Amino acid sequence: MKGFTHILVVSFVAFRSVFAIPAKGNKAANAAASAVAGITRGASTIVMKEVGGVPGNECLTFRNNGEIVDAACVNTSADRQVTPSTSASGADVLLVQRSFDAGFRPDLVGKQACVGFNGTDFKAVDCNASGTQFVSLVGGQLKSGTACQSGHDSAAQLTVDSSGSKCVGVTITTVTPAAP
Ligand SMILES: *[C@@H]1O[C@H](CO)[C@@H](O)[C@H](O)[C@H]1NC(C)=O
Ligand SMILES: *[C@@H]1O[C@H](CO)[C@@H](O)[C@H](O)[C@H]1NC(C)=O
Ligand SMILES: *[C@@H]1O[C@H](CO)[C@@H](O)[C@H](O)[C@H]1NC(C)=O
Repeated sequence: MKGFTHILVVSFVAFRSVFAIPAKGNKAANAAASAVAGITRGASTIVMKEVGGVPGNECLTFRNNGEIVDAACVNTSADRQVTPSTSASGADVLLVQRSFDAGFRPDLVGKQACVGFNGTDFKAVDCNASGTQFVSLVGGQLKSGTACQSGHDSAAQLTVDSSGSKCVGVTITTVTPAAP
């Protein structure tokens, strides 16, 4: 039993040091990660194009109020861009590249926005808000639990099927992040 306890202690120390090395060796990455409320930013920023989206306006775009619509694929525009990333608790999230202003989203001024599900809609929410149901890309579809993007409505607004029985896919293009 003594031997077993010893092994446990040794492996715990080894486990800690694996994580301590990159933490000490990469201060810039640490600072960047902590600046976004515990979100570890992913390497690739993307634009998502709805399969079967509004012809000529298929790219998912964040409006000033944080809602998502199909619009032209202006891939260099921050409001089209998201970065698949990881939350502090290890959840897959989509970090929204654009910023928001006090006129439309006072709750998002100076905050990092992630795509969240509020029970009916997928839209930009504070990444650090408690109890957020995050939306992520799963198998090429936007999903949050059982809910998925089901397409768009007649106003080109993204629609959600909370049961996940009708889901549409998106294709992605990797882009250079634009200024927020
Ligand atoms: C995130 O939220 C926690 C509590 O919910 C708070 O303590 C922390 O300061 C917040 N971090 C940022 C960067 O807003
Ligand atoms: C969810 O977001 C949509 C779009 O902004 C809004 O119309 C709706 O009232 C919100 N629902 C809840 C429960 O907050
Ligand atoms: C922009 O992105 C969309 C999909 O995300 C892609 O279909 C299109 O080819 C891209 N356009 C350019 C010019 O890269």
